[in-house]
Amino acid sequence: MQINSIHSAPKTLSKYAALAQSSEQPLVELKDISVIFSQKVALQHINLRIFPNSITTIVGPNGGGKSTLLKVLLKLLSPTKGSVTYRADLRVGYVPQKIHLDHSLPVTVERFLSLKKGIQKSDIQQALELLSISHLIKNSMQKLSGGEMQRVLIARAILNKPNLLVLDEPTQGVDINGQIELYQLIHQTQQKLNCAILMVSHDLHIVMADTNEVLCVNQHICCAGTPETVSNDPKFIHFFGDQFSKNIAFYTHHHNHNHNIHGDICCQNNHACAQHHHSTSPTNNDVNR
Ligand SMILES: Nc1ncnc2c1ncn2[C@@H]1O[C@H](COP(=O)(O)OP(=O)(O)OP(=O)(O)O)[C@@H](O)[C@H]1O
Ligand SMILES: [Mg+2]
Repeated sequence: MQINSIHSAPKTLSKYAALAQSSEQPLVELKDISVIFSQKVALQHINLRIFPNSITTIVGPNGGGKSTLLKVLLKLLSPTKGSVTYRADLRVGYVPQKIHLDHSLPVTVERFLSLKKGIQKSDIQQALELLSISHLIKNSMQKLSGGEMQRVLIARAILNKPNLLVLDEPTQGVDINGQIELYQLIHQTQQKLNCAILMVSHDLHIVMADTNEVLCVNQHICCAGTPETVSNDPKFIHFFGDQFSKNIAFYTHHHNHNHNIHGDICCQNNHACAQHHHSTSPTNNDVNR
């Protein structure tokens, strides 16, 4: 993984462009997805394709619908509208944003990982080795540090050797050095398993060099493109305000619409508008128009 070399990703970009233009079938395809929770729109008109071996990073404000999008893609949540299609050989591993551990029932890492159906001891050992945490096998889940817990959750997600690994903010609660290490591990895991990665991350400044495509989600896909494509317009920072640190200031995209405080789209002149356009280059994953 190239860290702090955010503008040096042409290799991955050309790989991605080739993927998007190839006739290869996507692992997953979402078509015109909308999700409405008791009259509140969480997502609308989402189109998305995930190709084998690609790395896609989703960014967006809190409450923008990122986790909801992952849950729809994982078929954990039925969309109000739209379809989710899987390639026949899809195997998914998922690292959720939160897990609930029962603190009254102590459980070791080994036991926790063996709860997954059809898992052999050798699968557990391999996964722990890949995440460099073999030494934690007999430790109590309840006593793991934030970084150790995230590694165990990734180990659990790769037990079935997925060809798509989905991670929802995998470095939450981990300090900056731990974050860099975790992303390195995720990247190594991707190369080892030869899988695609779909990840929600606020740490775009770290993951950028390895990301093929960035999706910016706030109810709809506000913009999508290669990191370079979307990093050239300072309006991105206006849109996200304080959500993103100064480190991320280079990551920008162009909007010719605004969002009101509820996240609804409105024109710059504040007149309601039904249609809006984005200036980012078209990519595999259409920006909703
Ligand atoms: N099961 C649910 N029932 C009702 N509303 C929900 C449900 N799940 C999510 N929401 C709402 O949908 C919106 C999107 O939530 P979601 O968790 O997808 O956002 P997010 O982008 O992942 O946010 P964060 O960055 O804070 O994790 C929020 O307003 C949230 O309150
Ligand atoms: Mg979330």
